[in-house]
Amino acid sequence: MSFTADRLLLFGATGDLAQRMLLPSLCALDADELLGADVKIIGTARSEMSDNEFRNFARAALEKFLPADRRGGMAHFLNRLTYQTLDATTLEGFDDLAGKVGTPARGLAIFLSTAPSLFEPTIKGLQHAGLDGPNVRMCLEKPLGTNLGSSCEINDAVASAFPEDRIFRIDHYLGKETVQNLLALRFANILFEPLWNAAHIEHVEITVAETVGLEGRVAFYDDAGALRDMVQNHMLQLLALVAMEPPSSFDATSVRDEKVKVLRSLRQVSENETVTGQYRAGAISGKAVPGYDEELGKPSTTETFVAIKAHVDNWRWKGVPFYLRTGKRLPRRVTEIVVQFRCVPHSIFAEKGAKMTPNQLVIGIQPEENISLSLMAKVPGLDREGIRLRSVPLDIAMPDAFTGLHRRIAYERLLLDLIEGDQTLFVRRDEVEAQWEWVDAIRALWEAQTLEPKTYTSGSWGPSAAIALAERDGVTWHE
Ligand code: BG6
Repeated sequence: MSFTADRLLLFGATGDLAQRMLLPSLCALDADELLGADVKIIGTARSEMSDNEFRNFARAALEKFLPADRRGGMAHFLNRLTYQTLDATTLEGFDDLAGKVGTPARGLAIFLSTAPSLFEPTIKGLQHAGLDGPNVRMCLEKPLGTNLGSSCEINDAVASAFPEDRIFRIDHYLGKETVQNLLALRFANILFEPLWNAAHIEHVEITVAETVGLEGRVAFYDDAGALRDMVQNHMLQLLALVAMEPPSSFDATSVRDEKVKVLRSLRQVSENETVTGQYRAGAISGKAVPGYDEELGKPSTTETFVAIKAHVDNWRWKGVPFYLRTGKRLPRRVTEIVVQFRCVPHSIFAEKGAKMTPNQLVIGIQPEENISLSLMAKVPGLDREGIRLRSVPLDIAMPDAFTGLHRRIAYERLLLDLIEGDQTLFVRRDEVEAQWEWVDAIRALWEAQTLEPKTYTSGSWGPSAAIALAERDGVTWHE
């Protein structure tokens, strides 16, 4: 199984993801000489295009989405590209596609970034054309189904042609540098791990806030909603990384074994532990934006915001709530994890009038990559009227700590791992299924309650009920 692919076949090569992420990431890897000299990239999609037209298409995407200082080797990169038109719903075109791919010297990596309805016919086509041998690996982009049942169907279809150790399921959050840094923070430092449990942590918050709205993804988003679009995958992966036991090594089996245990320990959410919302017209950074129903052009009951109080039912996390929230059209783009520690057991300063604030660790994932630990310190002075203490942050801004290293697109890391065959940052089937099981139960709960999302003004932090969800427990969302 260990081979470095010398052919990369991109399905959905003219799509949005290819333009924004895949082609720019591959070009950036090439510029940094991380792609072997013989690596060839074959794009395929329904559109009629020659090799040259595809190269021009790719050039336009790179000029739009790749920062100028990373476009150095663009001509070299474009030379690696070829293109084959394909209607994936019929078998006919797959022989021509196989001809275009040729015979890899070492192996082929396939990236499927198409509508899930095309997954099955594509797999059949690949089998028909012999593009499923032992030196072929398959990478799948979300959405992988809309519930456990449909996800199993997709996984079964893929499994009929590829064993699990050749299936690479993307969750692009795992490719983000700061998400991986969470593992370094937890497992490369002695400081945190002894405190990383219910005895010392009061609660955890995970926020993924976006300012964007529908972004033209009308049909997809209205069928998905925030729970399936963001919680089922990205947020649960973040939760799993925060909550998992230390794996014995940083390899695919050890890391994923630990994550799946967390996902399977998630307690079924009960009635008053979720809040859903849908944005209405408002303003973001002073700019007026329309409501979801206006963007969609019809009323809808799809949630664009969700907040959940989750629990991991195991020894380490007994009684520690994990508050999750994500939404579109919130006041600013921010992904962060807040670990709220408990108060010291006894304050020796209480009699001197000093107030204590418990320590808090804030892990900023985007847009700022920083880690901030709040510590109590004494306010300078002679203390004749009592001791004053204040919480002060110990800040590490990643870009400052690592100057000279540029920020990579999450897909750069994932594409390189796909080509080289490292599954550590890809999601295993049992993880996806545990994620769906938990999310399906939440949806079933909503359906049983005929719950409709509460409205919130664009540019606010979601419906007030989301604030109440945390405040009931005396918790204030970190903002
Ligand atoms: C995608 C969702 O998976 O993640 C989008 O489908 C969302 O709705 C996006 O906007 C957020 O990704 P990032 O990397 O911008 O946080």
